[in-house]
Amino acid sequence: MKSKKTILSGMRPTGKLHLGHLVGALENWVALQGEYDNYHLIADYHALTTNPDSSKIGENSFEMLLDWLAAGIDPALSPVFRQSQIKEHTELHLILSMLITAARLERNPAVKEQVRDLEIESVTYGHLGYPVLQAADILLYRGELVPVGEDQLPHVEIAREIARRFNTQYSPVFPEPEAKLTHFPRLPGLDGRRMSKSIGNTILLSDSPAEIARKMKTAVTDPQKVRRNDPGRPEICLVYSYHTKFNAPGAPAVETGCRSGALGCVECKQRIASAVADHLAPLREKREHFAARPEEVRQILASGEERARARARATMEQVRAAMHMG
Ligand code: TRP
Ligand code: SF4
Repeated sequence: MKSKKTILSGMRPTGKLHLGHLVGALENWVALQGEYDNYHLIADYHALTTNPDSSKIGENSFEMLLDWLAAGIDPALSPVFRQSQIKEHTELHLILSMLITAARLERNPAVKEQVRDLEIESVTYGHLGYPVLQAADILLYRGELVPVGEDQLPHVEIAREIARRFNTQYSPVFPEPEAKLTHFPRLPGLDGRRMSKSIGNTILLSDSPAEIARKMKTAVTDPQKVRRNDPGRPEICLVYSYHTKFNAPGAPAVETGCRSGALGCVECKQRIASAVADHLAPLREKREHFAARPEEVRQILASGEERARARARATMEQVRAAMHMG
């Protein structure tokens, strides 16, 4: 039966997803669907590590799930589930927390970076344990591969250390999970900075064609191309990087037109806006299908959670047996 490797992928529920999530994560998840046993985790407890306000978490999880489904995650193949609904996460988290030192967690660059970015004054116990909770997410399903971007490598390294530590302290239960680096062409935000919902420089997967066109108009371009006929430098223009991703066949013509000055930025942006809208059209359609059927989505989640729970329980039996705490 068990021939496929297990992948555990997860995201914090930040609400509606943007193009960066699609290119950097979801397209990969979808591509890996048939080849591996996939578990897709909505890390709702992780959302609390940086902000205990839970009032939006339910809604954000639902919106994120709509985007997952729209992007082609097939819940019949791969269970989708909320961390908070599988109690075993908290149980394994507690056990694993004894297997790593506070000093090791304090050195974790990913948490340090979050503290700096979010201007957190003093880190909570739970936030420090972020990677321990993530290790529990992965190990609970005996995940072997974890598709992540580079920023997540320190967390996966801690999960590996904890797995090794458990296996030597008690008995071998866990495979050592490996990061599966998603090589993604980093899509910049519309202002040229890192794409981020909090900065507001993103195109959402759920944006309408009109909204996409409106946002694209605001995108920064080569500052040297002031008038329509000025020659531009596509290699430094973020609009061009969108062309290479979403309008690959048309990109060479954009490049020549930009350099020669035959193509103006206004038209260039109209072209990419419509290419992005075309790319997202099937997603939008699927999203609207599910958004209109919340009961069906809740059912998808309930069934994903049931399947995840079964796997989690089986692992916890092994954990307790290994610890002689059965
Ligand atoms: N830390 C991940 C992020 O910020 C989210 C996450 C939580 C996760 N648990 C996970 C990712 C388990 C992979 C595996 O994106
Ligand atoms: Fe950028 Fe297109 Fe303007 Fe060239 S023509 S600078 S690629 S927006």
